[in-house]
Amino acid sequence: MKQTAADLRPQTHARRSSEVAALHRQDDDAQLGQYIPLHYHGQMLADDRRMAPFHEAIDKLVPLGSHVVELGGGTGVMSFFASKRARKVTTVERLPHVAAAARRLLTANGASSKVTIVEADARNFVPDEPADVVICEMLHTALLREKQLEVLQSFKVRHEARFGRAVPLIIPEATMLGVQPVFQPYEFHGYYAPVPFFFEAGVPGASTVEMGAPKIYSVIEYTKDLPDTFLVDGVLTADRAGTINALRFITKNLVGIFPLEQRSADWQMPYMSLPLPQPLEVQAGDDIHVRFQYDAGASIEALQSSMHATLAGA
Ligand SMILES: C[S@@+](CC[C@H](N)C(=O)[O-])C[C@H]1O[C@@H](n2cnc3c(N)ncnc32)[C@H](O)[C@@H]1O
Repeated sequence: MKQTAADLRPQTHARRSSEVAALHRQDDDAQLGQYIPLHYHGQMLADDRRMAPFHEAIDKLVPLGSHVVELGGGTGVMSFFASKRARKVTTVERLPHVAAAARRLLTANGASSKVTIVEADARNFVPDEPADVVICEMLHTALLREKQLEVLQSFKVRHEARFGRAVPLIIPEATMLGVQPVFQPYEFHGYYAPVPFFFEAGVPGASTVEMGAPKIYSVIEYTKDLPDTFLVDGVLTADRAGTINALRFITKNLVGIFPLEQRSADWQMPYMSLPLPQPLEVQAGDDIHVRFQYDAGASIEALQSSMHATLAGA
């Protein structure tokens, strides 16, 4: 393969797995999505790409008179939507100051008689009666950082053990994960910095060049058995000549599926592009062998340090 100027640049972003494992342990509670301060909830409330599909799914799918359990209730907004249809909502929130805010806000919104806030870790929680619907929004691009899969898998097992039946409906209903080869410019006023980037999906972002079509590497249906790790070892094809120096991770949540309308309410999360350890010079039609592995809920660094891409056959 031809050597390029980019090859000669220092590869400062890659970390050794042992370093990452140590960081991962240190940061687990504080940084990996377990701690979301109240001021960040304002951003989530104002993000209509997130709010609208949840609002629609809850309005259309929560049965009248049902028992809804929300895991990770935050300010209580999803429980508020659910309370319009449910007989009873049980909302689990781990952070005391966020739980206190939810109680205050639900009272201000006239929903406190139906919604009970339980201050607990959703990873151990069992409700006092079976759930007809579970709502859980601990989602992050590529299902990194937050504990969506761990929390839901363990809740489903405990629910079935206690009540002898599965949870019939989980909102969101499914998540699709994809990966795409891209060229991502990393020069900033002459400063070379290959670091992770997030871009709003569907909005042309910071001159990212799509170098090939995306491929789906996992489809998660929340009422089915949930994976705890992702291992991808496959081929992406370059559609044009140029440089592939990053992988873009695509995350689409099917928050509610409406078969009669033949559509779903989707939340396409921000794209995340992660720099590869070495850029690849490609021609149109070249196959790129891509490999990465990460645990659900792991750090961005854990995924990035596992990424390999080579020209197939090289
Ligand atoms: C992304 S926020 C979503 C909040 C709210 N459901 C909403 O949609 O606005 C996730 C919430 O889950 C809470 N959380 C994270 N891990 C938790 C756990 N293990 N048990 C209970 N709550 C948790 C966080 O404190 C945060 O309030």
